[in-house]
Parts: sequence; structure tokens; C-alpha cells
Amino acid sequence: MVEFDIHRGKIVDLQGIVELENNCFEDPYSENQISEDLASDNNLVLVAYDGELLIGYIDYKIVLDEAELLRIAVLKQYRGLGLGSKMIAESYNYLVGVKEIFLEVASNNKSAIQLYKKNSFDFVSVRTHYYKNGADAIVMKKEGIS
Ligand SMILES: CC(C)(COP(=O)(O)OP(=O)(O)OC[C@H]1O[C@@H](n2cnc3c(N)ncnc32)[C@H](O)[C@@H]1OP(=O)(O)O)[C@@H](O)C(=O)NCCC(=O)NCCS
Repeated sequence: MVEFDIHRGKIVDLQGIVELENNCFEDPYSENQISEDLASDNNLVLVAYDGELLIGYIDYKIVLDEAELLRIAVLKQYRGLGLGSKMIAESYNYLVGVKEIFLEVASNNKSAIQLYKKNSFDFVSVRTHYYKNGADAIVMKKEGIS
């Protein structure tokens, strides 16, 4: 695995995350949403850099001992290098006291589903027609973080 700098996201990372969101998602988070998550004590945002370039990020919402993995994204040209897994592994150092992580993923998002399976997330259920485009969501969870 190539070494990249992964650390907690701050407001200086806002523009990089906005660009990443716009590159990676059909329904990107707004600048406002991202800046709220960066500022919130109830979110954990980690960012990954290659030099000055923001190449990945992960965003969790934390409620008591549960976390929801809201977003994970890696710039296209950096995919398949293990960065997604590295950000997930790194996040466990920050998710102290969290016992379970939940997430929803579109049933046709094969690379994300593979990423989660590889990182020991288990299938929980399907939410049919969950997304605006009619796609189903798969709910997954991981137990035993701490
Ligand atoms: C999902 C995403 C974050 C994965 O990031 P990544 O850095 O490429 O992931 P990794 O390199 O750590 O891959 C981990 C595992 O996921 C799987 N995987 C990753 N990309 C894949 C692909 N294109 N096809 C199939 N499996 C894939 C593989 O099992 C891989 O392990 P392996 O390389 O040892 O076989 C990235 O594809 C992405 O940004 N997608 C767009 C945004 C998105 O859909 N996010 C998820 C919903 S919020």
C-alpha cells in the first residue's frame, strides 16, 4: 500500500472535500452540509492527501456507541490502491467507545460493497427503492470496534 497522509478533517479541507464530492457522487453533499459535518462534535471526518491534493475522505455520524458511515470517497485515479480500506482502518483509532458501525450502500455499488465486505461489514437487510433513482439500499454493520 502506498503511504498517504490521513488525518482528521478541518475547515481548511472544505474545498478539497467539495471537489471530491462533486467528482464522486451524482448527489454530492453541499458545501454547507460538509462544513457542518467538519464542525460537528458528532461527526468524524478524516481526509487523505497526496502532497497538496485531497484524494479521499470518510465521514461518520456518531450517536452514543453507534456510528453511521455516511460517506467514503477516493479520487478515481487513486482507487484500487487500498486507500478506502486504509481510511476505514484509521478511523477505528478515533471511534473510541463505538461498538457498532452501520451503513447503507446502493445495491449496484459493487466496489463499495466489496470494500465493506473486505473490512468485515456484514449484511443486515435491504431497503427497497431507498434512493431517489429507485435503487435499493443494502444495510450493513460491523460490530466489535472497541
Ligand atoms: C468505494 C471506494 C471508496 C473504494 O475506494 P478504494 O480506495 O478504491 O478501495 P480499496 O482500494 O481500499 O479497495 C478495497 C476493496 O474493495 C474492493 N474494490 C475496490 N474497488 C473495486 C472495484 N472497482 N470493483 C470491485 N471491487 C472493488 C476490492 O475488494 C478491494 O480489495 P482488493 O483490492 O484487495 O481486492 C471508491 O471506489 C469510491 O470512491 N467510489 C465512489 C464513491 C462511493 O461510491 N462511495 C461509497 C458510498 S458512500
